[in-house]
Amino acid sequence: MEFQKLEFENQTEKQMIQRSKHFLEMIKSRRTVRDFSEKNIPEGVIDNAVKAAASAPSGANKQPWHFVTVKDPAVKKKIRVAAEKEEKEFYEHRAPDSWLEDLNQFKTDWHKPFLEQAPALIIVFRQSYTNLGSTKRKNYYVSESVGIACGFLLAALHNAGLVTLTHTPSPMGFLEKILKRPKNEKAFLLIPIGYPAENAKVPDLIKKPYNEVATVL
Ligand SMILES: Cc1cc2nc3c(=O)[nH]c(=O)nc-3n(C[C@H](O)[C@H](O)[C@H](O)COP(=O)(O)O)c2cc1C
Repeated sequence: MEFQKLEFENQTEKQMIQRSKHFLEMIKSRRTVRDFSEKNIPEGVIDNAVKAAASAPSGANKQPWHFVTVKDPAVKKKIRVAAEKEEKEFYEHRAPDSWLEDLNQFKTDWHKPFLEQAPALIIVFRQSYTNLGSTKRKNYYVSESVGIACGFLLAALHNAGLVTLTHTPSPMGFLEKILKRPKNEKAFLLIPIGYPAENAKVPDLIKKPYNEVATVL
């Protein structure tokens, strides 16, 4: 492989401090939203966010991800019906009491109207291996890589003025079937995207203080 000169722009210390503060304020205002309006998203915004996600680092540059954007109401409905079936089973039978206790504060249940209300859903798939003709080539650090790409995606969507819900209906195998994904792909996250409903509320959560989450030696 050829190497090329890194494009890197040196910044002044003042710029660095300002930019880090600006990013912190921007990203701190992100919240998970569960009530969406049906307003449409301007053309190109989601594509740019997906391109930002796809620029993420990945183990051995395998880029073990695929992003499916669903805007078609009929497909969103199929996804809602299948997700609610799994979620009903989860909330009523599968989830251990401790998990339900942890979820209680979010007032979530098996009803998932946002899967139809949000103007778009992005379903992120992880690829555990790549098909090279008739042989399979294993991908490395797949969850780490796809997790980082999803972080880029959420940050890019928030930066563009949209809200998201990081949703994990459990289990998610129905997404592979509905979206006709190849065998090497498993659903990783289901992300409804759009604008908040007019009176959308979010839980008044407390984030851990810096000194609890960070150690500087
Ligand atoms: C991997 C992951 C899975 C999640 N799954 C769900 C989910 O299925 N349903 C839901 O309502 N929220 C889900 N959330 C959202 C979390 O509840 C939310 O991020 C957390 O309460 C913190 O709130 P904030 O995002 O507003 O800071 C998930 C978040 C993550 C990172």
